[in-house]
Amino acid sequence: MKLILYTLFVLSTVILTTRAQPMTPPTPPSLNDWKQQLEEWIPRQYKRSVQGIFDNINRPGTAKGCIVAADSKKQPDYYYNWIRDAAITMQVVVTMYERATDPKEIDRLETIIKEYIAFNHKLQHTPNYNGNFYTDGLGAAHFLVNGDAYPGAWCIENDGPALRALAIIKFTYAYLAKGGNISYIRDHVFGPTNNTLTRADLDYIARVWPNENCGPWEELYGIHFFDQYLQRTALLRGVKLAEKLGYNNIAKHYQRAAENITQVLPSYIAKDFGIVWESVNTTHDTNHETFLDTSTILAILHGYNHDDVFAPTNEYVIGTANMLRLVFQDIYPVNMRKEEDEGTLFGRFPDDIYDGYTSNVPGNPWILCTLGMAQYYYELAAEWLKHEKIVIGKWSKDFFRHLRVMPPPPPPPQSSISTTITGKAICSYVSALLEEGDRVLNAIRKHTVPSGMFTEEIDRYTGFEQGAINLTWSYDAFVTAVWSREDVHKLFSKYCEPPSPPLPSMPGPGGLSSP
Ligand SMILES: *[C@@H]1O[C@H](CO)[C@@H](O)[C@H](O)[C@H]1NC(C)=O
Ligand SMILES: *[C@@H]1O[C@H](CO)[C@@H](O)[C@H](O)[C@H]1NC(C)=O
Ligand SMILES: *[C@@H]1O[C@H](CO)[C@@H](O)[C@H](O)[C@H]1NC(C)=O
Ligand SMILES: *[C@@H]1O[C@H](CO)[C@@H](O)[C@H](O)[C@H]1NC(C)=O
Ligand SMILES: *[C@@H]1O[C@H](CO)[C@@H](O)[C@H](O)[C@H]1NC(C)=O
Repeated sequence: MKLILYTLFVLSTVILTTRAQPMTPPTPPSLNDWKQQLEEWIPRQYKRSVQGIFDNINRPGTAKGCIVAADSKKQPDYYYNWIRDAAITMQVVVTMYERATDPKEIDRLETIIKEYIAFNHKLQHTPNYNGNFYTDGLGAAHFLVNGDAYPGAWCIENDGPALRALAIIKFTYAYLAKGGNISYIRDHVFGPTNNTLTRADLDYIARVWPNENCGPWEELYGIHFFDQYLQRTALLRGVKLAEKLGYNNIAKHYQRAAENITQVLPSYIAKDFGIVWESVNTTHDTNHETFLDTSTILAILHGYNHDDVFAPTNEYVIGTANMLRLVFQDIYPVNMRKEEDEGTLFGRFPDDIYDGYTSNVPGNPWILCTLGMAQYYYELAAEWLKHEKIVIGKWSKDFFRHLRVMPPPPPPPQSSISTTITGKAICSYVSALLEEGDRVLNAIRKHTVPSGMFTEEIDRYTGFEQGAINLTWSYDAFVTAVWSREDVHKLFSKYCEPPSPPLPSMPGPGGLSSP
């Protein structure tokens, strides 16, 4: 454990200088110990993460339905209801609700979700720096914890309404499946007018999707893959919901807007580099020299619509993941000294100059970006298993080389020709990728405090946690990564021989053991 080793190092220096006594060096753990330690850590950290999420929902002194981005009121002050972060948290709560079988637990979660819906309806109608309900007010990044508008200026952000719509549409199906009241849905979620939460979000998205805004990292004014990819999926799921509820005209309107987005998405592909850009048609600045960005991968985690549009298996998406790893591996000192059992820690984008509190300093690895990459590896492995097929192409072959499967993948004879692997032959690749995901989780294990408290970032030099304490999104990212891991392990043991030992079920609300 780096933290412990570092502490030992500091302690030993102190002891050596004060008492001049030799220290016994710690015995190096045997090669596979880390897997055992990881398996023991995951259920503990899962429980702590679930607690971290619910601690930040309806905190004392906040309005009902409010979710704070972090339990951090100064250096930095994240004690606000961020629309994006809250919606990502709601996606986790809704999944727990979907899986819950205990009536008390269903009630508890349903109450939380309905409070979120009521609170967010109020926020939609709260005029703020960016406008009001009729103009651009839904693009507000955050609100005070009592629901008032943020008093200062803030850049417009249009990912929040898409993430919120995705969470609430998912809730709607689960709620109706559990025998929920359809009048509640028509009155509060999606009704004949846009005075209902999700309909307003989708009407807004259908109108503003081509517009420039600040994107998920609130830094670069332009258009963003993250936004448009999520907006498209939200609109397409809105089409289905509107049709189900009998609002066919609005369904057609969303369908046309989604088709318009589908047409522009291919322009994010950097054909000469084999990656997906975070932004296009946007002016580069010194902090965004490449538009290579982890948010591209996060978009796919939150919004892949299972329609082959930028699937996790897409060659350019795999190419992006590979490029991110290569770049972050090289720019963070903490990655350069990592051990064999640790994956790479990932940040937001290479030229990041925010360290969690101040700007104009070198940026850090982020816990949620790193966990997102681990989750991406699990999701990619799951896609391979579902299709019983792996395609190694020009832009993804380096990714496969990194997996070090024995024997190595046959290199495509010409750069444009791809290799396809089918049947049980995929299992060694899947297994290598699952191990790579586990190494990334293990890196988080080694760089976080034993209490399981997650901040936003990990210091690029020291490897210690840094930035906003108890960041809700970090906990969300852990829970969803563990869910993806558990799901892909089930697929793996079903398809690949020999079956891997069953993972322990996670405790906590929604318990993973429930169907
Ligand atoms: C983080 O949250 C936990 C409870 O969830 C709380 O006990 C702790 O004081 C918070 N802050 C820090 C720095 O851990
Ligand atoms: C709701 O509908 C009104 C009337 O058509 C429109 O002016 C307003 O912009 C819509 N609100 C949103 C959030 O799209
Ligand atoms: C269903 O919800 C509506 C309001 O949304 C309410 O008026 C009605 O009483 C509810 N019905 C039941 C059976 O709970
Ligand atoms: C889709 O694009 C067409 C052609 O540019 C435009 O006329 C139409 O208004 C767009 N529809 C929506 C819903 O965005
Ligand atoms: C970027 O601009 C090009 C050229 O005008 C256009 O074809 C493409 O669709 C634009 N991409 C996006 C995402 O708007």
